[in-house]
Amino acid sequence: MSLKKSFAAASMLAGAMTAMSFMSAGAAQAQGELVMYCAVQEEWCRAMTTAFERETGIKVSMTRKSSGEIYAQVKAEAANPRADIWWGGTGDPHMQAAEEGLTEAYKSPKMSELQDWAVRQWEQSKQRTVGIYSGALGFGYNTDLAQSKKTGDLKCWADLLKPELKDEVQVADPNSSGTAYTLLATIIQIMGEDKGFEYLKALHKNVNQYTKSGAAPAKATALGETTVGIAFMHDVVTMVVDKAPVKVVAPCEGTGYEIGSMSIIKGAKNLDNAKKFYDWALTPDAQKLGAAAKSYQVPSNKNTPVPPQAPKLSDVKLINFDFAKYGSSEERKRLLSKWDNEVKNLPK
Ligand code: F6P
Repeated sequence: MSLKKSFAAASMLAGAMTAMSFMSAGAAQAQGELVMYCAVQEEWCRAMTTAFERETGIKVSMTRKSSGEIYAQVKAEAANPRADIWWGGTGDPHMQAAEEGLTEAYKSPKMSELQDWAVRQWEQSKQRTVGIYSGALGFGYNTDLAQSKKTGDLKCWADLLKPELKDEVQVADPNSSGTAYTLLATIIQIMGEDKGFEYLKALHKNVNQYTKSGAAPAKATALGETTVGIAFMHDVVTMVVDKAPVKVVAPCEGTGYEIGSMSIIKGAKNLDNAKKFYDWALTPDAQKLGAAAKSYQVPSNKNTPVPPQAPKLSDVKLINFDFAKYGSSEERKRLLSKWDNEVKNLPK
């Protein structure tokens, strides 16, 4: 082929490719967009984004933050909402947002496939948030560090006050983290408010850092940066699966649990796509992406297989967690400001 001919062929090809890329941009445009705020682990957020885009052609713009941070952002943006769907994170800020009218009521055709605890969350929030997974709170400890610090076996919440654990316990800040708010609400429900705050003040002496994200202490424990990390048990299991020298503990006094939730943002600009995502996220195919991304919560659809690595909730002494009370706007605000005033700023 002469140079001229091959140039002509190349420019025809380029023209055809430009036309094709216009067509596919048009197709993507036709499907539109979805803005998602995501509060689980980054890997799982990304897996959900990619799978939903592939399934529907809808372009997802995803931001990952902790539960309390997303609530604060949704509230700050209420007059001109940026996000369409809030997927994941503990249920308490979803419940608070529901009560404050920041989220939209919706009944998915998938409701009949969900576990009772997921439906209860939806009923209690007047259909504004739904359960997508569940998991129990606990802690993990680095067995190498525990041995070198002679802490003995750690089995109970009470064990975390041992003097050997001075500056050796890590937990998140309950303002940003749903995990840490679950701890606050759990301790109060087990011990009563006065004794619970006494416990949290004593624990403060052993805390080396209040992290932003709830799962960060589990990672720090695996890396040997702290002896103990308070976190959801499934987040500690992820470290064990990755072969870290970490033991997962379901505290002997009993423990609380979360109902990870999903809500549609009030005034969502892409409401139809938010509903499409909502329905899809409740299917077994979508829920299976959790275990594939090494997230071992118990899924809310009865037909989604429970990952074999997921801590067995029937083996954990679960308290009768009052989600309505501890998710109410008044109680959540009151407890967080009490924790700020009485615990966080205490000298050590
Ligand atoms: O994805 C891990 C996870 O522990 C979820 O089970 C939970 O809902 C979320 O993170 C809580 O994150 P945070 O404490 O950072 O709000």
